[in-house]
Amino acid sequence: MRIEPVPALVGHLAVPGDKSISHRAVLVGAVCEGETRISGFGRSADTEATIAAVRALGVEVVEEDVDTLRVQGVGLGCLRQADAPIDCANAGTLMRLVAGLLAGQHGRFELVGDESLSARPMERIAEPLRRMGATVETTEGHAPLVVEGGALRAIDYELGVPSAQVKSAVLLAGMQAEGSTTVVERIPTRDHTERLLERAGAQVTRRPTSVTVERTAELRLPGIEIPGDISSAAPFFVAAAIVAGSSVTVHGLGLNPRRTGLLDVLERMGAKIAIYNRRPIGGEPAGDVEVRASDLVGATVSAAEIPALIDELPLLAVAACHARGETVVRGASELRVKESDRLEALVDELRRIGGHVRATSDGFRVTGVPARLRGGIVDAHGDHRLAMLGAVAGVASREGVALRGADAVAVSFPGFFDVLEQVAPGAVHYPPAT
Ligand code: S3P
Repeated sequence: MRIEPVPALVGHLAVPGDKSISHRAVLVGAVCEGETRISGFGRSADTEATIAAVRALGVEVVEEDVDTLRVQGVGLGCLRQADAPIDCANAGTLMRLVAGLLAGQHGRFELVGDESLSARPMERIAEPLRRMGATVETTEGHAPLVVEGGALRAIDYELGVPSAQVKSAVLLAGMQAEGSTTVVERIPTRDHTERLLERAGAQVTRRPTSVTVERTAELRLPGIEIPGDISSAAPFFVAAAIVAGSSVTVHGLGLNPRRTGLLDVLERMGAKIAIYNRRPIGGEPAGDVEVRASDLVGATVSAAEIPALIDELPLLAVAACHARGETVVRGASELRVKESDRLEALVDELRRIGGHVRATSDGFRVTGVPARLRGGIVDAHGDHRLAMLGAVAGVASREGVALRGADAVAVSFPGFFDVLEQVAPGAVHYPPAT
């Protein structure tokens, strides 16, 4: 696919429902009493894997519409042992969270994933789940995983890495364990699991750097509306911030403060951002966000800020290439264990198209020049967030970008290029059909 430069990005748009919340709504709905109607579901390859996983565990999911599901919960402890391994595909959130849920279930469950997921670290969830009494076998620290669940005991657990997936796995097991389970996190991570469990009736105590869940007899979540995914809006925000004359508004967007780090950093860099119609959607802060182009300057991003923009760091690097001066990102080594080694990949790909970027031991540095990147070839490394990096770099470049592996966007946002074409007409060129 080719992405051509555009003079500006202009328009109003909506993005699919938040992927993190969509996974959680299906998983929690699966163990509720009765039905959970999910609207605004963010349909993507990742969240389809979650629907398939709960179906394999004996849960009926009615697909009323592309973004409306009815999950017929079977109740806590009543998931069925699957006949075949549960395929988590590319979805780390699914594998880590479902492992937590299954830790409290009698039976033996095998979890498998694609090549990228099978290279990602799984001891980080296996270790606390074992401490709670589950048997969890990894394959040298990776998937395939085998979880043999049963009676669990509560633990107090301090996260070794700031990871909402690990926190969520422990909480989902914790609500099935005897006693109070507490997860301590020195750097706060996204709290969608806590919010959802609380809404479904679990007793959850939230503090700035820890969360406790009590043993839960039953959960009920009759309905949940999911706000738009800020991680899917992020490419449009970055493109609008750096391409002169642009103005893009995304409506109905989730604005959980533990997810809005990109907006905070862009604002520090001088981007013009306005938020309208602040309102709650599905128990999450939400609103409409407008980003307009302006001259940006470099910024420093510290470790404490990283979880709030972890998935947006590749896009931040594109913004930094167009900003005057140095941008320094620290405390971001988790980028190395995402769907690809995003740290090496973002540095390599941006350098290839004219960016002055280098990796550091725990992050990266960019020397920005307030001018368009040259353009050239960008390879997505099979990673949806890098495909979006290539697309944003393409519209903002001088010569355009030949984007290899553009299909990876389907992991989180299958309609991404259609929406890009709406706000940047003429940007997207598909290769001729063979
Ligand atoms: C997610 C948490 C983050 C994030 C991922 C989704 C979640 O991962 O990068 O895309 O839904 O909990 P970690 O928990 O591994 O940091």
